[in-house]
Amino acid sequence: MQDIIAVESEVETGKLYAFDGKSPVVHSSVFLAAGARVIGDVEIAEGCSVWFNAVVRGDVERVRIGRYTNIQDNAVIHVTHFANPTEIGERVTVGHAAVLHGCTIKDGALIGMNAVVLDRAVIGAGSLVAAGAMVRPGTKTPEGVLIAGVPAKIVRELTDDERKMVAEGAENYMLYVKHYRSELPQRPWDLGTFAT
Ligand SMILES: CC(C)(COP(=O)(O)OP(=O)(O)OC[C@H]1O[C@@H](n2cnc3c(N)ncnc32)[C@H](O)[C@@H]1OP(=O)(O)O)[C@@H](O)C(=O)NCCC(=O)NCCS
Repeated sequence: MQDIIAVESEVETGKLYAFDGKSPVVHSSVFLAAGARVIGDVEIAEGCSVWFNAVVRGDVERVRIGRYTNIQDNAVIHVTHFANPTEIGERVTVGHAAVLHGCTIKDGALIGMNAVVLDRAVIGAGSLVAAGAMVRPGTKTPEGVLIAGVPAKIVRELTDDERKMVAEGAENYMLYVKHYRSELPQRPWDLGTFAT
């Protein structure tokens, strides 16, 4: 990955932490809002955003996050030790307070607010996990479907409008990053970059 920020310079901000000899590897374009915490064996690619108080904890396994993905406020991304990493693709939206644990989220999926995706589950590309869903361990879902409920089940294929809405999630968050960066210079400690 190019344009990597050295973790040592970020420790003071309280956003990036080395753990067990491994430091997060984060592209310089990534927006880290105040209160975000990124720990250990984590790679976050170009254009991503990690919002207020989200936690990405790659302490006992790895976390990988592809380009232009957004991890919204209070989301928790974790792993199971020596067993289940968490792999998140490109242009994924992870909604507020969602929990992703030792699972795989394919490109362009949307994880609804407060949804929980458990170990070894695989969410197909462009699929929508409804708000509040609980995806059981090992569940595999195809591309482009709605997954909802507790425990979550595949409800149906997404409509064209819903596919558009899911794709727009990632686009919208790229715009929000620009907006935040234009608003926040008056408060440099809250800039959402590594520089402060
Ligand atoms: C799924 C969603 C898009 C709405 O779907 P919808 O228009 O209500 O879908 P439908 O009317 O076709 O519902 C299909 C079925 O799924 C159920 N369903 C819809 N949303 C559900 C949810 N969140 N949890 C449980 N069941 C849900 C409906 O009750 C319906 O069940 P039924 O056929 O037994 O009546 C919406 O509920 C949602 O979860 N959006 C996620 C938004 C989000 O969190 N974004 C990220 C932050 S920006």
